[in-house]
Amino acid sequence: MSRAPFRIAALDAGERDRSRFDSGTPALDRYLKEQVSQDIRRRVAACFVALTDEGRIAGYYTLAAASVPLPDLPEALRRKLPRYPSVPAIRMGRLAVDVAFKGQGLGGALLVNALHRAAGIEVGAVVLIVDAKDEQAAAFYLHHGFIAITASPLTLFLPLASVSRP
Ligand SMILES: CC(C)(COP(=O)(O)OP(=O)(O)OC[C@H]1O[C@@H](n2cnc3c(N)ncnc32)[C@H](O)[C@@H]1OP(=O)(O)O)[C@@H](O)C(=O)NCCC(=O)NCCS
Repeated sequence: MSRAPFRIAALDAGERDRSRFDSGTPALDRYLKEQVSQDIRRRVAACFVALTDEGRIAGYYTLAAASVPLPDLPEALRRKLPRYPSVPAIRMGRLAVDVAFKGQGLGGALLVNALHRAAGIEVGAVVLIVDAKDEQAAAFYLHHGFIAITASPLTLFLPLASVSRP
């Protein structure tokens, strides 16, 4: 959990400061600077940011509705689910922390915030799924209890039934 005093809120269209955001992964920085506002307007994604006391963006994540083919989930979870071809999910498409704030627990705090938010949405969703950009990112999610989807080690999920609502 984060020790620094960050406030997590929906990205405001007028949020200053996006140009400074530097996660060390240019594609994630470009997305926040150039594309996310359009995705929010088109309802393709929702974006939540961690703000410092001064209003600087220290990290962000995005959420969107998704579905997971039932055969992709492990047998132990499938047994508890109806035999639909796929089950509803929430996808955390992106998660990034600015290099200035890494290693302070913020990535973990954003992940927990996303899980509580997904568990609290009044729409059916069985799992939160994430697309790790590489093996290092997948290790971060495995460290937090996520399970890799059978066919794809870079797609991981966590059952939302195990997450308390906010
Ligand atoms: C991955 C990322 C979000 C982690 O953010 P962070 O704020 O540095 O991470 P935290 O300080 O919250 O770490 C929380 C825990 O995860 C662990 N952790 C962090 N990165 C890890 C990794 N790659 N593998 C395994 N564990 C990791 C930490 O050791 C810490 O463990 P602890 O709670 O037991 O002490 C951040 O490094 C980042 O933005 N990376 C670039 C973008 C990226 O990879 N995004 C991920 C999805 S595409």
